[in-house]
Amino acid sequence: MSNSDSKVVVITGCSSGIGFVTAVEFSKNDFTVFPTMRNLSKKNELEEELDNSEDILQLDVTDYASIDNTISQIKNKFGRIDILVNNAGYALFGSFEDTSIDEFKQQMETNFFGTVRLMKKVIPIMKKNNSGKIINISSIAGMSGFPFMPSYVSSSFALEGLTESLRYELKKFNIQLSLIEIGGVRTKFLDNKILSKDALKNTDYSKSMGNYLDMLENIFKNTITPDIIAEKIVEFSNLDILEPRYVIGEDVQQIINQKKILSPLDYEKYILDFMLNGIIE
Ligand SMILES: NC(=O)c1ccc[n+]([C@@H]2O[C@H](COP(=O)([O-])OP(=O)(O)OC[C@H]3O[C@@H](n4cnc5c(N)ncnc54)[C@H](OP(=O)(O)O)[C@@H]3O)[C@@H](O)[C@H]2O)c1
Repeated sequence: MSNSDSKVVVITGCSSGIGFVTAVEFSKNDFTVFPTMRNLSKKNELEEELDNSEDILQLDVTDYASIDNTISQIKNKFGRIDILVNNAGYALFGSFEDTSIDEFKQQMETNFFGTVRLMKKVIPIMKKNNSGKIINISSIAGMSGFPFMPSYVSSSFALEGLTESLRYELKKFNIQLSLIEIGGVRTKFLDNKILSKDALKNTDYSKSMGNYLDMLENIFKNTITPDIIAEKIVEFSNLDILEPRYVIGEDVQQIINQKKILSPLDYEKYILDFMLNGIIE
């Protein structure tokens, strides 16, 4: 749906999962939505769900030229971007020792610097209009450490710090930022995971790492579906004031509550006993 009064939304990573359903949800609620994806050959399914399929644009968050091109197109057409949803990302699994520096950097390039690049380009546009909302899809891995995904956890913690900090800087321009804290959500997230090259080689960590992945596969069978996240994102986009973070999912809320009330050592024991439950050698 595109009309001159409706708010203009840009979302990254819409070929599947949370980005896909969030694009559809915004469209159903009469926003002018520009879903983006790095590979447009994946756009057919989303095209069928949207009125304006020409609004699906190419954008790779690791490629500044592609960001520049797409955001400039939208700016030239509408003169504004009201809402930016930074959603694109993937999880790299592998112990710290089994993850190379290049693999570590690649994870940061997508999950952290991808959002940095988008915000560099979109904030000046929002500033001109003295208005804007930036919703960064984060993770419980941005609020708590977990083993065997140190680069993913680091990128999530970095995103949390950046978002919290920019809230102070951008307040006077009426640009609000918020983090969406999610745990397991049934998308292609686990299928799309990347294993570090050495992750399952016979290292000191491979057995625990294999157990950890099996545990996650099991947990993901019973997690919430992405439409719940999409509905909330649209709901938050309609609020006058955004909170710094929104927790979605009982699993995440429970972990955050425990971290608040337990001592740091007792919290570690809680994660080891209730989540990891003997799987780490
Ligand atoms: N699902 C969960 O349990 C969970 C939990 C915590 C946080 N999250 C976060 O939620 C976000 C969405 O994930 P999801 O669950 O919807 O998983 P998903 O189905 O795997 O979707 C991830 C999306 O990100 C895109 N992407 C990856 N690298 C990109 C790049 N360089 N440029 C542009 N797009 C790129 C993927 O595109 P391609 O199809 O081209 O690969 C895909 O569209 C991610 O940031 C993830 O870290 C998810």
